[in-house]
Amino acid sequence: MSVALIVLAAGQGTRMQSDLPKVLHELAGVPLFAHALASGRALSPDRTVLVVGVGADRVATAAHDIDPGIAIAEQTEQLGTAHAVAQAQDALSGFDGDAIVLYGDTPFIRPETLAKMRAARASHDVVVLGFDAADPGRYGRLLMSGDTLERIVEFKDTTDEERAVTLCNSGVVCANATRMFELIKSVDNTNAGGEYYLTDIVEIARARGLSATIVRCPEEETLGINSRAELASAEAIFQTRMRDEALRAGVTMIAPETVYFAQDTVIGRDVVIEPNVVFGPGVTVETGARIRAFSHLEGAHVGGGAIVGPYARLRPGAELSNDVRVGNFVEIKNACLADGAKANHLTYIGDASVGAGANIGAGTVTCNYNGVEKHRTEIGERAFIGSDTMLVAPVRVGDGAITASGSVITKDVPDNALGLSRTAQEVKPGAAPRLFEMYRKAKARRQKGG
Ligand code: UD1
Ligand code: MG
Repeated sequence: MSVALIVLAAGQGTRMQSDLPKVLHELAGVPLFAHALASGRALSPDRTVLVVGVGADRVATAAHDIDPGIAIAEQTEQLGTAHAVAQAQDALSGFDGDAIVLYGDTPFIRPETLAKMRAARASHDVVVLGFDAADPGRYGRLLMSGDTLERIVEFKDTTDEERAVTLCNSGVVCANATRMFELIKSVDNTNAGGEYYLTDIVEIARARGLSATIVRCPEEETLGINSRAELASAEAIFQTRMRDEALRAGVTMIAPETVYFAQDTVIGRDVVIEPNVVFGPGVTVETGARIRAFSHLEGAHVGGGAIVGPYARLRPGAELSNDVRVGNFVEIKNACLADGAKANHLTYIGDASVGAGANIGAGTVTCNYNGVEKHRTEIGERAFIGSDTMLVAPVRVGDGAITASGSVITKDVPDNALGLSRTAQEVKPGAAPRLFEMYRKAKARRQKGG
């Protein structure tokens, strides 16, 4: 049975106090809405529709960066959750599987929970995700009779008796897509909020003799983000979860509370992560690698047995093969380092390929940018790049070649050749004391002159 996701992300997010649409604020290195998408994607949906409104263009662009296949439906006025879902109808034309409605500002729903909802759909027409709220506050209340969900009442419309109910609506709903749109047609806005409530479809379904039920999840999963404080606590929750998962999966962390992961960080078994390491999005670290203290990685792949840091920076497109060494104050961007290559100190390698076993001396820089265009540097296998070499791209240093330290390399160095470009050294015996004397006199003259 096929499934489609409808992710609601049109709301204003007033309490964020921000010019940025709420769902574009980052949680674990990716926009907030990407978390709901990721949970939903575990169900391998056939289609995904993101309903956008406030900051529509920016949200759509961010969505397409994640997945160009996401359909965008625009809700120009935020008239309520039912109205928001109705905007997805065109994008789902011809689709007759299940639709799952998720909120872009609710990042913690687990894929397992969504799978349970789909399983419950086998015997019910409408399935709502509920939770027992410690403090039910302003949530919609789920009114049950036995296992049947009869109605959802929004907080603003509750009677005192209904307010006492602690079983609350998370907002996640699953029903056959065609049926959901059909039910929404009957939703009106004659309620205390003056909005088209998606929650009304339950009562409408029941009146038509359809069945509705709930799946329960822990309250933590339903946490929505409305303010910067909530965003910060969500980040803390997320990080704790990722650290626990990493430890369970066989990653060693000396001070896990100082290591920050992104939503999609993948760390292999027996990787050691030292304190104060930050993973931006798109990082994979293979088995047995070591990420030393104070390193920052994003969009990078670290091969097995590699050692990165301390104080290393891997930027997008950094590809380190097995047993590579990247040491302190080394920055790698859009560059591949083949097996066993080493860049141990104070180096920038950008837009480059470095052959297996090559050694990059301290202070080496690939001068990849001429102010207008970027160019590539190629370094062959077992090449030895002397300290303080400037490699002015486009340039190639061949297999087994050497560049002399302090060289500015502007021409290709063939395999096994030496590239040397520096002025020849002169030696003047006994000149040092004379120079010192000259400097002292000059200083004394200046001091006298006042
Ligand atoms: C909604 C539910 C409530 C539930 C609560 C859980 C309804 C009517 N109420 O209430 O039962 O307990 O969530 O958090 O569904 N949105 C749009 N377009 C709109 C309106 C909303 O895209 O026109 C989006 C919002 O950006 C948000 C989500 O839908 O991501 C929920 O909207 P919100 O206004 O927060 O609904 P609640 O009043 O919290
Ligand atoms: Mg809300």
